[in-house]
Amino acid sequence: MQNQVGTLLHKYDQRVPRYTSYPTAPHFGPQIQAEDYRRWLAELDPAAALSLYVHIPFCDSLCWFCGCHTKIVKRHRPIEQYLEVLAREIDLAADALGARRQVCHLHFGGGSPTILTPKEIGRLFTRLRRHFDIPAEADIAVEIDPRDLDMAVIPALARGGVKRASIGLQDLNPKVQAAVNRMQSFDETEEVIETLRAAGIDSINIDLMYGLPHQDVACVEATIDSALSLEPDRLCLFGYAHVPWMKKHQRLIDEAALPGPEERFAQYMAAADRLTGAGYRWIGLDHFARPGDTLAVAAREGALKRNFQGYTTDDAIARIGFGPSAIGAMPQGFIQNTAAMPEYRDAVARGELPIARGRALSGDDRLRSAVIERLMCDLSVDLGRIGEDFGVGGAAFADEIEALSGMCADGLLDIESGDSGPVIRITAKGRPFVRAACAVFDSYLNPGETRHARAV
Ligand SMILES: C[S@@+](CC[C@H](N)C(=O)[O-])C[C@H]1O[C@@H](n2cnc3c(N)ncnc32)[C@H](O)[C@@H]1O
Ligand code: SF4
Repeated sequence: MQNQVGTLLHKYDQRVPRYTSYPTAPHFGPQIQAEDYRRWLAELDPAAALSLYVHIPFCDSLCWFCGCHTKIVKRHRPIEQYLEVLAREIDLAADALGARRQVCHLHFGGGSPTILTPKEIGRLFTRLRRHFDIPAEADIAVEIDPRDLDMAVIPALARGGVKRASIGLQDLNPKVQAAVNRMQSFDETEEVIETLRAAGIDSINIDLMYGLPHQDVACVEATIDSALSLEPDRLCLFGYAHVPWMKKHQRLIDEAALPGPEERFAQYMAAADRLTGAGYRWIGLDHFARPGDTLAVAAREGALKRNFQGYTTDDAIARIGFGPSAIGAMPQGFIQNTAAMPEYRDAVARGELPIARGRALSGDDRLRSAVIERLMCDLSVDLGRIGEDFGVGGAAFADEIEALSGMCADGLLDIESGDSGPVIRITAKGRPFVRAACAVFDSYLNPGETRHARAV
């Protein structure tokens, strides 16, 4: 068994994207600029509800594994200055939209959004509500680092309408925590979750990681047992993406202490076993939810979506991103804000939307995006039906079907004949390798490209 896993990992644990979008962010380019985005915003259907993402790129200490776009600050002044720019950026986007729009999803990500003071949180909500209708039923979520959290931010979040919180937990083992510079106790995590629930923010997600230095199956399982005692609605299980060529601070991590591919795989599978054994539904690659949670319901109904935050129920036609590095997804294509704070600030000061790059979608991009999203979300895709929807017919993917024959022979997926063309179904054995199947449909992917982290 172990050898078989080793062979599969060797063949399919390629460095492939996580497919939170297609085309993926490395294929956005300078050909899409602020004036394109301004036009795209103006073209949006005024009746359609939008999704908003607000990025807060600050933390007060650095986790050495961190792959997020954040900056460590010891003083509050840079955050205050940033919030002024962010408010202006929100004004600029609202101006380009022209009319007041309804919002169905709002996500505060980071970095650590709870680094803001309660007053700043209140002002940010006021600014957003000045331009957007955010109804009581809107899905408003925030990412929370529970360490040293100022509990006074929790009522401020609740007053703003936040209903869901995503708590970073990662691993509770002190040796692992020391190796990644993130000391976090179970008790402080529990206290934050209890305070959130008492304030009415009662949909709780917990982020866990595997593949960290010194982690082994036993400590992943122990962390999961502790996490389960907190009765979260959802859990995300992220494999540590070690990309020191992109995230220089990851060089602080002792590579000799990192688990190898087979050990990572064992941690992932042990975690999934534990979570499904506790009654959580395994969703896509790395999310777990209680059967009654909206994410699990969407998965059952084939309505699950995937965006830059991972799996989601967010089906808005457009997502507007605010803050440096934020990515927006429009019916016309993707846009990404500049990541560098000085450029971001200067663009906004000039009254320009701070776009660095983007990608207009071609017909082929939309077709492949639909295939990849269904594979990532449903672990199956009816190529015939999607081909019909896009007017290309069921035979459009003959080369890809051919390219999948190896995965099929290895028992990772089945290819059946549907009413209008082939249907691909990822098997239970193949789930960890679903990204490798998606990569076959990715016409931008350069074989052997080493930009991405390991698939499993
Ligand atoms: C923006 S952080 C969450 C909020 C908060 N900053 C925290 O860390 O608690 C989002 C999540 O991404 C995951 N993450 C960060 N860096 C990662 C990496 N290099 N590989 C895989 N997952 C990572 C962690 O699980 C983290 O909780
Ligand atoms: S993992 Fe979270 S808290 Fe740690 S540096 Fe990254 S964004 Fe900040």
